[in-house]
Amino acid sequence: MRPAPALPPTTELFRMDGMRVLLTGAGGAIGSVLARAFADLGAVVTVHDLTTDKVQPLVAAIEEAGGTAYALSADISHADQCSRLIDEAVATMGGLDVLVNGAGINRRKPILEVTVDDFDAITAVNMRAVYFLSQAAHPHLKSSGRGSIVNLSSLSARYSFNTISVYAATKAAVSGMTRSFAREWVKDDIRVNCIEPSVVQTEFTKPLWGEDHRYRWFEDTTPIGRLAQANELVGAVIFLATPASSYITGQSIVIEGGILAGGDWDSYAENNS
Ligand SMILES: NC(=O)c1ccc[n+]([C@@H]2O[C@H](COP(=O)([O-])OP(=O)(O)OC[C@H]3O[C@@H](n4cnc5c(N)ncnc54)[C@H](O)[C@@H]3O)[C@@H](O)[C@H]2O)c1
Repeated sequence: MRPAPALPPTTELFRMDGMRVLLTGAGGAIGSVLARAFADLGAVVTVHDLTTDKVQPLVAAIEEAGGTAYALSADISHADQCSRLIDEAVATMGGLDVLVNGAGINRRKPILEVTVDDFDAITAVNMRAVYFLSQAAHPHLKSSGRGSIVNLSSLSARYSFNTISVYAATKAAVSGMTRSFAREWVKDDIRVNCIEPSVVQTEFTKPLWGEDHRYRWFEDTTPIGRLAQANELVGAVIFLATPASSYITGQSIVIEGGILAGGDWDSYAENNS
């Protein structure tokens, strides 16, 4: 049997002091909230996006709050830029303990209108980049001894909507990769997990909740009765990135306000109040 790791005291289980974190897509709505949270808990954070302009304000805000953050840019739809990004992050922070694959794109279209370019663009960022960023991060996460990858998958990996067929396929692939990578790298003390959020109320998803009928659909179908906010993903990601989840790998945490728990057939009763 392998020895169990020494865990910090309970009050420090969720701390990230000294952890070196690379977060892709950190200029986005969810990434920026996650980056602030990591820094608040003591992590050194490299925030990445397509351009450093997108993440400089985030770096400034983290530094103003007393944290440490660095900005890096790369277009991760190109595989060679994925390995360069990892190299630069490692050189900047002196190593890597946690990789959070947060960058993602979507082009919402009915299946019959999806082009090869749409398909390739979405899969390159949402799926191929997750694969090759993780691959390039492997030696560094291995030498960390507490390496962890957290992938931002989606509820659409298991519950789809019309017009998101390619996106949903990539997220199902990310959840699948999470299990494959977890299984293969458990020997290297690297844990790999993902979250699968339902629609989070951000600009990215405004076409989904910005229309009145769709807003009402989410309200009626989500047992919690509202859309998620970006800060409601923080707890799960911190949990998966820290020793609090030391015996958890290959898992998906679904964050969906109870959608998968089931329906309310009495809401169809005529005298339903
Ligand atoms: N918002 C939601 O409802 C929701 C739900 C489930 C999962 N997710 C996932 O969470 C992640 C973040 O979503 P968000 O709502 O913050 O989106 P967002 O659009 O606000 O942020 C995504 C970021 O990724 C960056 N990016 C896109 N293509 C890139 C590329 N080629 N190279 C480098 N960076 C690139 C963008 O510039 C952007 O800053 C995505 O992976 C998304 O699929 C979002």
